[in-house]
Amino acid sequence: MFKEDILKGKTIVVTGGGTGLGRAMATRFLELGANVAIASRKMDVLQEAAKEMAEQTGGRVVPFQLDVRDPLKIEEVINQIHEEFGQIDTLLNNAAGNFISPTERLSYKAFDTVVDIVLRGTYYFTMALGKHWIANKLPGNILSIVTTYASTGSGYVVPSAVAKAGVLNLTRSLAAEWGHYGIRLNAIAPGPFPTPGAWKRLLPDPRMEAKLIQRIPLKRVGEHSELANLATYLVSDASTYMTGEVVTIDGGEWLGGAGEFNFLEMVTPEQWDMIQQQMKR
Ligand code: HXC
Ligand code: NAP
Repeated sequence: MFKEDILKGKTIVVTGGGTGLGRAMATRFLELGANVAIASRKMDVLQEAAKEMAEQTGGRVVPFQLDVRDPLKIEEVINQIHEEFGQIDTLLNNAAGNFISPTERLSYKAFDTVVDIVLRGTYYFTMALGKHWIANKLPGNILSIVTTYASTGSGYVVPSAVAKAGVLNLTRSLAAEWGHYGIRLNAIAPGPFPTPGAWKRLLPDPRMEAKLIQRIPLKRVGEHSELANLATYLVSDASTYMTGEVVTIDGGEWLGGAGEFNFLEMVTPEQWDMIQQQMKR
Protein backbone atom coordinates (compact mmCIF):
# COMPACT_ATOMS: atom_id res chain seq x y z
CA MET A 1 0.00 0.00 0.00
CA PHE A 2 2.87 2.40 0.79
CA LYS A 3 6.27 3.13 -0.71
CA GLU A 4 8.80 1.28 1.41
CA ASP A 5 10.55 4.51 2.44
CA ILE A 6 7.47 6.66 3.01
CA LEU A 7 8.50 7.39 6.64
CA LYS A 8 12.25 7.63 6.05
CA GLY A 9 13.86 10.48 7.98
CA LYS A 10 10.99 10.79 10.46
CA THR A 11 11.30 10.23 14.20
CA ILE A 12 8.06 9.07 15.78
CA VAL A 13 7.36 8.74 19.52
CA VAL A 14 4.81 6.06 20.40
CA THR A 15 3.52 6.07 23.97
CA GLY A 16 2.62 2.54 25.06
CA GLY A 17 4.60 1.31 22.05
CA GLY A 18 5.84 -1.88 23.71
CA THR A 19 2.54 -3.78 23.66
CA GLY A 20 -0.65 -4.32 21.70
CA LEU A 21 -1.73 -1.78 19.11
CA GLY A 22 1.07 0.67 19.93
CA ARG A 23 3.61 -2.03 19.16
CA ALA A 24 1.82 -3.01 15.93
CA MET A 25 1.78 0.60 14.69
CA ALA A 26 5.38 1.24 15.78
CA THR A 27 6.51 -1.91 13.96
CA ARG A 28 4.83 -0.76 10.76
CA PHE A 29 6.51 2.67 11.08
CA LEU A 30 9.89 0.95 11.43
CA GLU A 31 9.24 -1.23 8.37
CA LEU A 32 8.55 1.95 6.41
CA GLY A 33 11.80 3.66 7.40
CA ALA A 34 10.99 5.72 10.54
CA ASN A 35 13.09 5.96 13.68
CA VAL A 36 10.86 5.10 16.63
CA ALA A 37 10.95 5.88 20.37
CA ILE A 38 8.64 3.70 22.46
CA ALA A 39 7.75 4.99 25.92
CA SER A 40 5.80 3.56 28.86
CA ARG A 41 6.15 2.46 32.49
CA LYS A 42 7.57 -1.07 32.19
CA MET A 43 11.18 -0.88 30.97
CA ASP A 44 11.61 -4.67 30.82
CA VAL A 45 8.61 -4.99 28.47
CA LEU A 46 9.87 -2.08 26.33
CA GLN A 47 13.40 -3.47 26.07
CA GLU A 48 12.22 -6.91 25.02
CA ALA A 49 9.78 -5.41 22.50
CA ALA A 50 12.42 -3.03 21.07
CA LYS A 51 14.86 -5.92 20.59
CA GLU A 52 12.28 -8.04 18.74
CA MET A 53 11.00 -5.10 16.67
CA ALA A 54 14.54 -4.16 15.59
CA GLU A 55 15.27 -7.79 14.62
CA GLN A 56 12.00 -8.05 12.71
CA THR A 57 12.30 -4.78 10.77
CA GLY A 58 15.98 -3.77 10.77
CA GLY A 59 14.81 -0.36 11.99
CA ARG A 60 16.08 1.86 14.80
CA VAL A 61 13.86 1.70 17.90
CA VAL A 62 14.83 2.91 21.38
CA PRO A 63 12.85 2.36 24.62
CA PHE A 64 12.28 5.13 27.20
CA GLN A 65 10.79 4.61 30.64
CA LEU A 66 8.10 7.07 31.73
CA ASP A 67 4.68 7.43 33.27
CA VAL A 68 2.58 9.78 31.12
CA ARG A 69 1.04 11.16 34.35
CA ASP A 70 4.40 12.81 35.15
CA PRO A 71 4.93 15.94 33.00
CA LEU A 72 8.49 16.61 34.24
CA LYS A 73 9.52 13.08 33.29
CA ILE A 74 7.93 13.60 29.86
CA GLU A 75 10.09 16.72 29.35
CA GLU A 76 13.17 14.78 30.45
CA VAL A 77 12.39 11.94 28.00
CA ILE A 78 11.75 14.40 25.16
CA ASN A 79 15.27 15.76 25.76
CA GLN A 80 16.68 12.22 25.78
CA ILE A 81 14.92 11.39 22.50
CA HIS A 82 16.39 14.54 20.95
CA GLU A 83 19.87 13.45 22.09
CA GLU A 84 19.28 10.01 20.58
CA PHE A 85 17.63 10.95 17.27
CA GLY A 86 18.24 14.71 16.88
CA GLN A 87 14.57 15.51 16.25
CA ILE A 88 10.97 14.49 16.92
CA ASP A 89 8.55 14.84 14.02
CA THR A 90 5.51 12.96 15.24
CA LEU A 91 3.82 11.93 18.47
CA LEU A 92 1.44 8.97 18.68
CA ASN A 93 -0.61 9.27 21.87
CA ASN A 94 -1.50 5.62 22.35
CA ALA A 95 -0.93 4.86 26.06
CA ALA A 96 -4.16 4.24 27.97
CA GLY A 97 -5.72 2.64 31.02
CA ASN A 98 -9.17 1.12 31.13
CA PHE A 99 -11.35 -1.56 32.74
CA ILE A 100 -15.05 -2.38 32.84
CA SER A 101 -17.11 -1.60 35.92
CA PRO A 102 -20.51 -0.26 36.87
CA THR A 103 -19.68 3.39 37.49
CA GLU A 104 -21.24 3.49 40.95
CA ARG A 105 -18.80 0.80 42.08
CA LEU A 106 -15.73 2.87 41.21
CA SER A 107 -13.71 4.64 43.88
CA TYR A 108 -12.74 8.25 43.14
CA LYS A 109 -9.17 7.04 42.78
CA ALA A 110 -10.15 4.41 40.20
CA PHE A 111 -11.92 7.09 38.12
CA ASP A 112 -8.98 9.49 38.47
CA THR A 113 -6.46 6.81 37.52
CA VAL A 114 -7.98 6.19 34.09
CA VAL A 115 -8.64 9.89 33.38
CA ASP A 116 -5.10 10.79 34.47
CA ILE A 117 -3.48 8.27 32.11
CA VAL A 118 -5.74 8.89 29.12
CA LEU A 119 -6.51 12.61 29.24
CA ARG A 120 -3.81 14.20 31.38
CA GLY A 121 -1.15 11.89 29.91
CA THR A 122 -2.17 12.92 26.40
CA TYR A 123 -2.26 16.65 27.05
CA TYR A 124 1.00 16.62 29.03
CA PHE A 125 2.86 14.97 26.13
CA THR A 126 1.04 17.05 23.52
CA MET A 127 1.83 20.32 25.33
CA ALA A 128 5.45 19.46 26.05
CA LEU A 129 6.15 18.68 22.39
CA GLY A 130 3.92 21.45 21.06
CA LYS A 131 5.83 24.04 23.14
CA HIS A 132 9.10 22.69 21.80
CA TRP A 133 7.94 22.79 18.18
CA ILE A 134 6.49 26.29 18.50
CA ALA A 135 9.56 27.71 20.30
CA ASN A 136 11.84 26.26 17.62
CA LYS A 137 9.55 27.11 14.68
CA LEU A 138 9.27 23.44 13.72
CA PRO A 139 6.30 21.70 12.13
CA GLY A 140 4.76 18.81 14.04
CA ASN A 141 2.24 16.00 13.75
CA ILE A 142 0.20 14.43 16.55
CA LEU A 143 -2.00 11.36 16.20
CA SER A 144 -4.10 10.19 19.16
CA ILE A 145 -5.86 6.86 19.54
CA VAL A 146 -9.36 7.41 20.92
CA THR A 147 -12.35 5.04 20.56
CA THR A 148 -15.74 5.20 18.89
CA TYR A 149 -17.32 5.86 22.28
CA ALA A 150 -15.35 9.11 22.54
CA SER A 151 -18.24 10.46 20.44
CA THR A 152 -21.15 8.25 21.51
CA GLY A 153 -20.32 7.68 25.17
CA SER A 154 -20.57 4.20 26.71
CA GLY A 155 -21.72 2.73 29.97
CA TYR A 156 -19.37 0.55 32.03
CA VAL A 157 -16.22 2.33 30.80
CA VAL A 158 -17.20 5.84 31.86
CA PRO A 159 -13.78 7.14 32.99
CA SER A 160 -12.31 6.01 29.68
CA ALA A 161 -15.24 7.47 27.73
CA VAL A 162 -15.00 10.93 29.29
CA ALA A 163 -11.22 10.95 28.97
CA LYS A 164 -11.22 9.85 25.31
CA ALA A 165 -13.89 12.50 24.59
CA GLY A 166 -11.48 15.02 26.10
CA VAL A 167 -8.65 13.76 23.88
CA LEU A 168 -10.87 14.10 20.81
CA ASN A 169 -11.80 17.64 21.80
CA LEU A 170 -8.14 18.47 22.46
CA THR A 171 -7.35 17.19 18.96
CA ARG A 172 -9.97 19.39 17.32
CA SER A 173 -9.24 22.44 19.48
CA LEU A 174 -5.48 22.42 18.98
CA ALA A 175 -5.83 21.61 15.27
CA ALA A 176 -7.56 24.98 14.98
CA GLU A 177 -5.21 26.81 17.35
CA TRP A 178 -1.85 25.40 16.23
CA GLY A 179 -2.50 25.01 12.50
CA HIS A 180 -0.73 28.28 11.73
CA TYR A 181 2.42 26.93 13.39
CA GLY A 182 2.40 23.99 10.94
CA ILE A 183 1.30 21.56 13.65
CA ARG A 184 -1.49 19.17 12.76
CA LEU A 185 -3.46 16.84 15.03
CA ASN A 186 -5.70 13.93 14.11
CA ALA A 187 -7.26 10.96 15.86
CA ILE A 188 -8.22 7.38 15.08
CA ALA A 189 -11.31 5.82 16.67
CA PRO A 190 -10.82 2.05 16.55
CA GLY A 191 -13.51 -0.49 17.27
CA PRO A 192 -12.43 -3.83 18.73
CA PHE A 193 -8.89 -4.99 17.88
CA PRO A 194 -7.90 -7.91 20.14
CA THR A 195 -4.90 -7.28 22.41
CA PRO A 196 -4.06 -9.00 25.71
CA GLY A 197 -4.14 -5.64 27.55
CA ALA A 198 -7.63 -4.69 26.39
CA TRP A 199 -9.18 -8.14 26.32
CA LYS A 200 -8.30 -9.13 29.89
CA ARG A 201 -9.67 -5.85 31.23
CA LEU A 202 -12.70 -5.40 28.95
CA LEU A 203 -13.77 -8.85 27.74
CA PRO A 204 -12.66 -11.22 30.51
CA ASP A 205 -15.21 -13.90 29.47
CA PRO A 206 -14.75 -15.35 25.92
CA ARG A 207 -18.55 -15.27 25.41
CA MET A 208 -18.33 -11.48 25.49
CA GLU A 209 -16.24 -11.42 22.30
CA ALA A 210 -18.78 -13.59 20.43
CA LYS A 211 -21.57 -11.24 21.53
CA LEU A 212 -19.58 -8.22 20.40
CA ILE A 213 -18.82 -9.69 16.96
CA GLN A 214 -22.55 -10.28 16.33
CA ARG A 215 -23.07 -6.52 16.54
CA ILE A 216 -20.40 -5.64 13.97
CA PRO A 217 -21.70 -5.34 10.39
CA LEU A 218 -18.47 -6.85 8.97
CA LYS A 219 -18.84 -9.74 11.50
CA ARG A 220 -15.25 -9.76 12.67
CA VAL A 221 -12.82 -7.86 14.86
CA GLY A 222 -10.08 -5.70 13.38
CA GLU A 223 -6.62 -6.85 12.37
CA HIS A 224 -3.65 -4.92 13.73
CA SER A 225 -2.27 -4.40 10.20
CA GLU A 226 -5.50 -2.61 9.22
CA LEU A 227 -5.06 -0.10 12.03
CA ALA A 228 -1.31 0.21 11.39
CA ASN A 229 -1.92 1.13 7.74
CA LEU A 230 -4.40 3.87 8.68
CA ALA A 231 -1.98 5.22 11.29
CA THR A 232 0.81 5.20 8.71
CA TYR A 233 -1.28 7.34 6.37
CA LEU A 234 -1.97 9.85 9.13
CA VAL A 235 1.65 10.13 10.33
CA SER A 236 3.00 10.31 6.77
CA ASP A 237 3.27 13.19 4.32
CA ALA A 238 0.44 11.58 2.33
CA SER A 239 -2.02 13.29 4.72
CA THR A 240 -0.49 16.78 5.05
CA TYR A 241 -3.80 18.65 4.46
CA MET A 242 -5.66 16.66 7.12
CA THR A 243 -6.00 18.12 10.58
CA GLY A 244 -8.61 18.06 13.33
CA GLU A 245 -10.11 14.87 11.93
CA VAL A 246 -11.09 11.61 13.61
CA VAL A 247 -11.15 8.50 11.43
CA THR A 248 -13.29 5.58 12.58
CA ILE A 249 -12.08 2.04 11.88
CA ASP A 250 -14.57 -0.36 13.44
CA GLY A 251 -16.12 -2.64 10.80
CA GLY A 252 -19.25 -0.47 10.98
CA GLU A 253 -19.78 -1.30 14.67
CA TRP A 254 -21.03 2.00 16.03
CA LEU A 255 -23.35 2.78 13.12
CA GLY A 256 -24.64 -0.79 13.28
CA GLY A 257 -25.61 -0.15 16.90
CA ALA A 258 -27.07 3.29 16.19
CA GLY A 259 -29.34 2.82 13.14
CA GLU A 260 -32.99 2.56 14.16
CA PHE A 261 -33.83 -0.50 12.03
CA ASN A 262 -30.50 -2.30 11.90
CA PHE A 263 -31.95 -4.90 14.27
CA LEU A 264 -33.86 -6.26 11.23
CA GLU A 265 -30.64 -8.09 10.36
CA MET A 266 -32.11 -10.99 12.38
CA VAL A 267 -35.06 -11.39 9.95
CA THR A 268 -34.53 -14.37 7.60
CA PRO A 269 -35.33 -14.26 3.83
CA GLU A 270 -38.36 -16.50 4.47
CA GLN A 271 -39.61 -14.17 7.18
CA TRP A 272 -39.14 -11.22 4.78
CA ASP A 273 -41.28 -13.07 2.19
CA MET A 274 -44.06 -13.37 4.77
CA ILE A 275 -43.73 -9.82 6.06
CA GLN A 276 -43.75 -8.34 2.56
CA GLN A 277 -46.74 -10.40 1.46
CA GLN A 278 -48.64 -9.21 4.54
CA MET A 279 -47.62 -5.58 4.01
CA LYS A 280 -48.60 -5.62 0.33
CA ARG A 281 -51.96 -7.10 1.24
C1 HXC B 1 -12.48 -1.38 39.68
C2 HXC B 1 -10.23 -0.89 39.71
C3 HXC B 1 -9.97 -1.90 38.75
C4 HXC B 1 -11.09 -2.67 38.26
C5 HXC B 1 -8.10 -0.95 39.26
N1 HXC B 1 -9.04 -0.35 39.99
N2 HXC B 1 -8.65 -1.90 38.48
N3 HXC B 1 -11.47 -0.63 40.16
N4 HXC B 1 -12.33 -2.37 38.76
N5 HXC B 1 -10.94 -3.63 37.34
C6 HXC B 1 -8.85 0.72 40.97
C7 HXC B 1 -7.92 0.30 42.12
O1 HXC B 1 -8.64 -0.44 43.10
C8 HXC B 1 -7.44 1.66 42.61
O2 HXC B 1 -8.42 2.32 43.37
C9 HXC B 1 -7.32 2.47 41.33
O3 HXC B 1 -8.16 1.82 40.36
C10 HXC B 1 -5.89 2.50 40.80
O4 HXC B 1 -5.44 1.17 40.64
P1 HXC B 1 -3.89 0.83 40.50
O5 HXC B 1 -3.80 -0.63 40.23
O6 HXC B 1 -3.14 1.38 41.68
O7 HXC B 1 -3.50 1.74 39.24
P2 HXC B 1 -2.26 1.66 38.26
O8 HXC B 1 -1.19 0.72 38.79
O9 HXC B 1 -1.90 3.04 37.94
O10 HXC B 1 -2.86 0.90 36.95
C11 HXC B 1 -3.73 1.55 36.06
C12 HXC B 1 -4.87 0.65 35.60
C13 HXC B 1 -4.33 -0.69 35.02
C14 HXC B 1 -5.66 1.44 34.53
C15 HXC B 1 -5.78 0.32 36.75
O11 HXC B 1 -5.39 -1.49 34.52
C16 HXC B 1 -3.32 -0.46 33.91
O12 HXC B 1 -2.13 -0.33 34.18
N6 HXC B 1 -3.76 -0.41 32.65
C17 HXC B 1 -2.90 -0.14 31.46
C18 HXC B 1 -3.27 -0.93 30.26
C19 HXC B 1 -4.72 -0.92 29.88
O13 HXC B 1 -5.61 -0.54 30.66
N7 HXC B 1 -4.98 -1.36 28.65
C20 HXC B 1 -6.31 -1.42 28.07
C21 HXC B 1 -6.54 -0.27 27.15
S1 HXC B 1 -7.85 -0.75 26.15
P3 HXC B 1 -8.49 2.26 45.00
O14 HXC B 1 -9.52 3.29 45.37
O15 HXC B 1 -8.91 0.86 45.33
O16 HXC B 1 -7.12 2.59 45.51
C22 HXC B 1 -8.85 0.47 25.76
C23 HXC B 1 -9.85 0.01 24.71
C24 HXC B 1 -11.04 0.84 24.56
O17 HXC B 1 -8.77 1.56 26.24
C25 HXC B 1 -12.08 0.36 23.55
C26 HXC B 1 -12.26 -1.10 23.29
C27 HXC B 1 -13.22 -1.42 22.19
P1 NAP C 1 -2.43 -2.22 25.82
O1 NAP C 1 -1.56 -3.19 25.12
O2 NAP C 1 -2.78 -2.48 27.26
O3 NAP C 1 -1.76 -0.79 25.69
C1 NAP C 1 -1.74 0.20 26.66
C2 NAP C 1 -0.33 0.75 26.73
O4 NAP C 1 -0.33 1.92 27.52
C3 NAP C 1 0.66 -0.23 27.34
O5 NAP C 1 1.78 -0.37 26.50
C4 NAP C 1 1.06 0.44 28.65
O6 NAP C 1 2.45 0.17 28.93
C5 NAP C 1 0.81 1.90 28.34
N1 NAP C 1 0.51 2.66 29.54
C6 NAP C 1 -0.53 2.47 30.40
N2 NAP C 1 -0.48 3.34 31.41
C7 NAP C 1 0.61 4.13 31.17
C8 NAP C 1 1.18 5.22 31.86
N3 NAP C 1 0.65 5.68 32.99
N4 NAP C 1 2.30 5.79 31.34
C9 NAP C 1 2.86 5.32 30.19
N5 NAP C 1 2.34 4.30 29.49
C10 NAP C 1 1.24 3.70 30.00
O7 NAP C 1 -3.83 -2.03 25.07
P2 NAP C 1 -4.16 -1.75 23.53
O8 NAP C 1 -5.41 -2.49 23.25
O9 NAP C 1 -2.98 -1.95 22.68
O10 NAP C 1 -4.55 -0.20 23.55
C11 NAP C 1 -3.78 0.77 22.86
C12 NAP C 1 -4.61 2.00 22.58
O11 NAP C 1 -5.69 1.66 21.72
C13 NAP C 1 -5.25 2.64 23.79
O12 NAP C 1 -5.27 4.05 23.62
C14 NAP C 1 -6.66 2.12 23.75
O13 NAP C 1 -7.56 2.95 24.44
C15 NAP C 1 -6.89 2.14 22.27
N6 NAP C 1 -7.99 1.30 21.81
C16 NAP C 1 -7.87 -0.05 21.83
C17 NAP C 1 -8.89 -0.82 21.33
C18 NAP C 1 -8.81 -2.30 21.28
O14 NAP C 1 -9.77 -2.95 20.88
N7 NAP C 1 -7.68 -2.92 21.65
C19 NAP C 1 -10.04 -0.20 20.84
C20 NAP C 1 -10.14 1.18 20.85
C21 NAP C 1 -9.09 1.93 21.33
P3 NAP C 1 3.04 0.04 30.42
O15 NAP C 1 2.18 -0.91 31.16
O16 NAP C 1 4.48 -0.39 30.19
O17 NAP C 1 2.99 1.43 30.99
